[in-house]
Amino acid sequence: MVAQKNLCILILAAGKGTRMKSSLPKPLHTVCGLPIIAHILKAAQALEPAAIGLVIGHGADQVMSAVKAGMASWGITSPVVFAEQTDLSGSGSAVKAALPLLQKFETVFVLNGDTPLLLPSTLQQMLSVFEAQKQGAMVLGVSVPDPAGYGRIVRTPEGMFEAIVEDADADAETKKIAEINSGMYIFNSAALQTALSQLTPQGPKNEYYLTDTLSIIRQMTLPVTVFNSTDYEQALGVNSKAQLAEAEQIMRLRTAKRLMDEGVTLVRPQDSYIDAEVQIGADTRIEPGCHIYGKTVIGKNCLIESGVYIKDSVIADNVTIKMGTYIEESEVAEECQLGPYAHLRPKSVLKKGAKVGNFSEIKKSVIGEGSKVNHLSYIGDTQMGAGVNVGAGTITCNYDGKNKHQTVIEDHVFVGSNVNFVAPVTVHEYAKIGAGSTITKEIPAESLGIARSRQVVLEKKGVKKND
Ligand code: UD1
Ligand code: CA
Repeated sequence: MVAQKNLCILILAAGKGTRMKSSLPKPLHTVCGLPIIAHILKAAQALEPAAIGLVIGHGADQVMSAVKAGMASWGITSPVVFAEQTDLSGSGSAVKAALPLLQKFETVFVLNGDTPLLLPSTLQQMLSVFEAQKQGAMVLGVSVPDPAGYGRIVRTPEGMFEAIVEDADADAETKKIAEINSGMYIFNSAALQTALSQLTPQGPKNEYYLTDTLSIIRQMTLPVTVFNSTDYEQALGVNSKAQLAEAEQIMRLRTAKRLMDEGVTLVRPQDSYIDAEVQIGADTRIEPGCHIYGKTVIGKNCLIESGVYIKDSVIADNVTIKMGTYIEESEVAEECQLGPYAHLRPKSVLKKGAKVGNFSEIKKSVIGEGSKVNHLSYIGDTQMGAGVNVGAGTITCNYDGKNKHQTVIEDHVFVGSNVNFVAPVTVHEYAKIGAGSTITKEIPAESLGIARSRQVVLEKKGVKKND
């Protein structure tokens, strides 16, 4: 192993990403909930380098601020040094832009900034082999079913590394080579620096190719080797929206495999849209067409029916979430039941065994233990105690046009159907509220609040019959 203090990882992310046809810089497009650059940084971090260099150029400010804002949550603890490439004249120039950083290290691991499926385990193996057999450079080569667009690895008749030929410069014979350059390399830093100074512009766009440094180093009689892996998916470079979708698909299946290995039941893994960082407990059953995103954590023995959407939420054990339910930034305790078609908006907290049913919307509220909001209700900015029953069609009127106000419903309150709570208002424990009431004033404990006009029945002629 290289002593980590001698290792620097350099990520190239300055390119224009023209083929994405997007106003968003390529490193910020997301794959399974995280920007591409976050996946690369996380893999780099796994090697615990002394520093991570990030070459930025196109959309530099946007990329830099997104990385600075996200770094801590992606677990990046190595110092990240930004280097700006102003000329955008190829991957060789990108590395040159980071020379002051490279000069401080013996070993430099270079990663393209557009390969989100890279595997830390492969990088680790490469590093061990590189260090065991002192050499000038090593490249990760994989054989792919469709090598079009990638640089091909050309070998000598003896099967040794000879050169990398870019797709744009390859003749018909070279294009048949299936072994491609993954865009992941380890260099002896001194050799890399010498080779960079000898690069000349190449290809239809007059670019300085980083890939040419390998043949230059070889001519310096330093060994250059290819590290091979059979897992070719890790080398997928995202250059277009189609490749972005392909990366998403592959990563989703990887996540599904991880979850199934951990005991989760996925009815149709290929139709489960689960972000890379999601955690789910054993024997939870996920039906097809669920979207489980961001930093969501789901416990054991839950049932998540089809078409459920959950983002950045914590769901405890033994929870049932029926079809069409939508949950964002909320907490659901054990044994709760939701849906079908329930909606938890941010900062909703459901305590143990609570139920939120059909077409009920909860926002920034606590629903106490065992409380029920089963049908067609809106509960916002509310503190609800335990054992409360909320009748169908109940609404908290939390907004007066200017400010939001709180509703407090204490333990064991019984709310009849179609009640309005005009906040701020408090209903004390064991109170009952008559159906159809509009409650504007505090209701004491154990009392009955009714606020509706008495029924009047008129005869045909308009004469009062009774009241
Ligand atoms: C590159 C390799 C190719 C390899 C493929 C793997 C070169 C010359 N070719 O091709 O051999 O098979 O990756 O995916 O390197 N970049 C900069 N500044 C620039 C240009 C590019 O920072 O001026 C960065 C890009 O942001 C990207 C990386 O370098 O992250 C690779 O550039 P890209 O244009 O995607 O190269 P490919 O054509 O994919
Ligand atoms: Ca690329």
